[in-house]
Amino acid sequence: MNEPSAIRFFHVWDTYARVVGGNYMFHRELGAALRAALVARFQGRPFSLVDLGCGDAATLAPILLDMPVKAYFGADLSQPALALARQNLSDLACTVELRHADMRDALIGLTGPADVIYSSFALHHLTRDEKAAFFRAASQKLAPDGAMMLVDIVREENQPLDAYHLAYTRWLRATMTGLDGAEHEAICEHIVNNDFPEPWSEIEAMASNAGLRPASVTTPQIWHRLMVFERV
Ligand SMILES: C[S@@+](CC[C@H](N)C(=O)[O-])C[C@H]1O[C@@H](n2cnc3c(N)ncnc32)[C@H](O)[C@@H]1O
Repeated sequence: MNEPSAIRFFHVWDTYARVVGGNYMFHRELGAALRAALVARFQGRPFSLVDLGCGDAATLAPILLDMPVKAYFGADLSQPALALARQNLSDLACTVELRHADMRDALIGLTGPADVIYSSFALHHLTRDEKAAFFRAASQKLAPDGAMMLVDIVREENQPLDAYHLAYTRWLRATMTGLDGAEHEAICEHIVNNDFPEPWSEIEAMASNAGLRPASVTTPQIWHRLMVFERV
């Protein structure tokens, strides 16, 4: 996503907050799975976390509150989202660094290994080649016993992108009943122009080519998943 589309996205931020609040994209189940994955992997050991496309960090901040996070680093293209993230993360006891940057540049620019590379509902904005490069960079920046934890949209196998867009926008109009028609249209416009999710087989292949393997996948709904990867 380039800068203008990230800024356009911010105009539907209130709507996105209502999507999160209504749990229409399964943030509650995915957050619980993320918490469980962090606890299982680190078992009380302090860990650093890099959050790429952090947005306002509203879902992640409460999950991290009672965890032994030693450093949080977030990057996003939206300045207003970062301002909200600063507020939402203010109760964390660890260092918090927020950067206005493309998540790919932020990842490549990391100076030390990260215990957790996390990204939630942002990776699907990248093209296939950009996603593949993202996996390769993540593999290089991950600590040996670290994990990449991705919450994202996953397209069905053999489902062309336009068929996915049609199915998802139909589904959201039917299920996101707490939003009005104008909000549905704003989200649908964003999805059709900015969302390029891959099927799981593609994601797994990109991970494998980068030297990563799936450790677990949680699928509360077919298109919405938490995917945890570790080094081979
Ligand atoms: C749907 S929001 C998700 C926000 C948050 N991670 C969450 O799960 O609630 C997507 C976020 O990714 C950001 N974003 C999209 N493409 C980006 C990129 N290439 N670099 C950095 N941020 C990006 C947008 O600005 C937006 O804040």
